[in-house]
Amino acid sequence: MTRLNAKDGLVLTVPVVTGHQDFTGDTMTLISLALQRADLVRTQNFIAGQWRDAGLSASYNVSDPATGEQFARVPDSTAADAHDATDAAQNAFEPWRFTPARERAAILKRWHALIVEHSEDLARLMSREQGKPMPESRAEVLYGAAYVEWFAEEAVRTYGDIIPEQVRGRKMMVVLEPVGVVAVITPWNFPLAMIARKLAPALAAGCTVVAKPAEDTPLTALALVRLAENAGVPAGVLNIVTSSRAAAPALVNDWIIDPRVRKVSFTGSTEVGKLLARGSADTLKKLSLELGGNAPFVVFDDADVDAAVEGLVISKFRNSGQTCVCPNRVYVQDAIHDVFSEKLAARMKTMRVGPATRDESQIGPLINERAVEKVERHVKDAVSKGAALLLGGTRVRNDVANGPFYFAPTLLANATADMMLFGEETFGPVVPLFRFATEAEGVRAANDTQFGLASYFYARDVGRISRVAELLQAGIVGINVGAVSTEVAPFGGVKESGYGREGSRRGIEEYMQTKYVCLGSS
Ligand code: SIN
Repeated sequence: MTRLNAKDGLVLTVPVVTGHQDFTGDTMTLISLALQRADLVRTQNFIAGQWRDAGLSASYNVSDPATGEQFARVPDSTAADAHDATDAAQNAFEPWRFTPARERAAILKRWHALIVEHSEDLARLMSREQGKPMPESRAEVLYGAAYVEWFAEEAVRTYGDIIPEQVRGRKMMVVLEPVGVVAVITPWNFPLAMIARKLAPALAAGCTVVAKPAEDTPLTALALVRLAENAGVPAGVLNIVTSSRAAAPALVNDWIIDPRVRKVSFTGSTEVGKLLARGSADTLKKLSLELGGNAPFVVFDDADVDAAVEGLVISKFRNSGQTCVCPNRVYVQDAIHDVFSEKLAARMKTMRVGPATRDESQIGPLINERAVEKVERHVKDAVSKGAALLLGGTRVRNDVANGPFYFAPTLLANATADMMLFGEETFGPVVPLFRFATEAEGVRAANDTQFGLASYFYARDVGRISRVAELLQAGIVGINVGAVSTEVAPFGGVKESGYGREGSRRGIEEYMQTKYVCLGSS
């Protein structure tokens, strides 16, 4: 148990160390989730440079998905707290906007350095509240940090244009300006990277922010904000409020109806994204919506089968299958279907299910009971409609995976388009194999969805590669590769996977507006 420092007004006993002493596996390595810097465990909102409770002092529990144990309480904020955050962000906007870009960049660089310095603590906190295995948490911290570094560098490059003189003596310029206050709303599957890749471009552009992390994973985001405070982000520039699932709609609505909030950046479900878009219509806010995916992974008969199996495993089982970009439907061409399926099954049998406290764990617990129930529903529905269950298909509970939310890596063959898992993201460690005959059929099936975030295919024929890459309806196409995410490339979808791009040289413009300035000669 760690007794937190009371200097910020709250003393809370948080059992940060789990140890899981009851586990017996003798070849396993136990790792501790204790933090070096206890003050990174923040359990208050951060508004106008102050850590404080929700206005009504309400709070809710944060749980460890590995055990279901509730281990911390954070503010259950209301619309009034959201409003306070907007007041602070609005007040801070002009000074931050006119802070020279190089100074904003320097603060972001310091923030990046602090994230890297405290990456082990951030990873432990993340594994504790989100459940992902430690290697993945460590990788996510560095992935998120890379966005902060990238946008620190982009802050000084938000160039406009000078238009060649059209009328003698008349000067025409195009400048990019920060949009104003930005509302940032983020999901639980990547508690650090998703918020980092919104906060960094917003702050780099000169915007101020009001943020709400996911209900299940507030602590990583609060720790990140603590480091931003340490890096010198001025009071009011970055504000964060937490809330339970039940309180979130009222809180977010306050931002949506507030004309001072000029942009919303959201990662989450398509359903909520549409609500935000509708709600924002009255004040015509700028929107970035990174919404649901239903990624196809197509293996053509000329593919390197071993590489395709490995690419699928990397892509599918990252975060136990809880990513928007992970393959949801796997299409394998007739000639290689059976060999692919056998090799994949053999590879999946090697995967170890367990908590983050075990070094060896590759598949962690799912985030909560609702998530496991959805996976169960999809598997049951598929089997009832004729899918063959080749592997897994049930929860796992044993001495190592000793909690309610573990699900076995699951392989289903004979999947068809009438199954739930064809139309909806399963968001769990389930691979359904669909069979197809021709290239055209494979492409048609891959595109047969209203979503269009990521898509993947494996092939070696150059003509096929170029044809299929052009035809796939997705914002991201991975060819002969399963890991595509990086701060240097644009991340985002088409169709009902949303709009707007995160990362890359384009990412900062999402937080800027264009002004044309025409200067006459007199
Ligand atoms: C997501 O699943 O929402 C994002 C994953 C990534 O950035 O790779």
